[in-house]
Amino acid sequence: MRIAVYPGSFDPITNGHVDVLRRAVAAFDRVVVAVLVNPRKATVDPADERVETIRASIAETLGEDRDRIEVVAFDGLTVDLCRRIGARWLIRGLRAVADFEAELQMAHMNRKMAPEVDTVFFMTALEHAYLSSSLVREIARFGGDVAPLVPTAVLARLTAGGPGVTGRRPAED
Ligand code: PNS
Repeated sequence: MRIAVYPGSFDPITNGHVDVLRRAVAAFDRVVVAVLVNPRKATVDPADERVETIRASIAETLGEDRDRIEVVAFDGLTVDLCRRIGARWLIRGLRAVADFEAELQMAHMNRKMAPEVDTVFFMTALEHAYLSSSLVREIARFGGDVAPLVPTAVLARLTAGGPGVTGRRPAED
């Protein structure tokens, strides 16, 4: 079985992430969305809330494919998670050249630590290329309309006055 891990902060998940996930699940038998518990970025929603929001977003957007997607929270190295669950691919999205350098470094480093795990990049669809979680949070905080940018489940959370709209600084992505 071809298992891939799609790791990230997902704070919050955006339509860009969903697009990458939709395409990843078309290419692999099973995709595990791995939500980082303690990112270096300090100000994210708790991992369990991000996991719940992602599950709800998948349920609303991905139809039958959702049965082949699992969402987990994880701490530590992504490659260790891959080894634990037998995943041989890592999924990442690339929006623009600006993403490339950091992603390349991370892919090489992950490959150095775990040569059996390969990183696969999906180019973010053009209509989502300008999207970032941090911009979504900032726009929501100041009352802007983020409905076209995120799944409904995220919208509900942002407009319900979750931590992201009540004074915490946005994460950097
Ligand atoms: O959505 P993000 O914040 O760009 O995701 C970054 C993430 C979670 C993929 C990266 O920080 C990560 O893999 N963290 C886990 C710790 C780890 O494995 N670090 C070494 C990376 S080479």
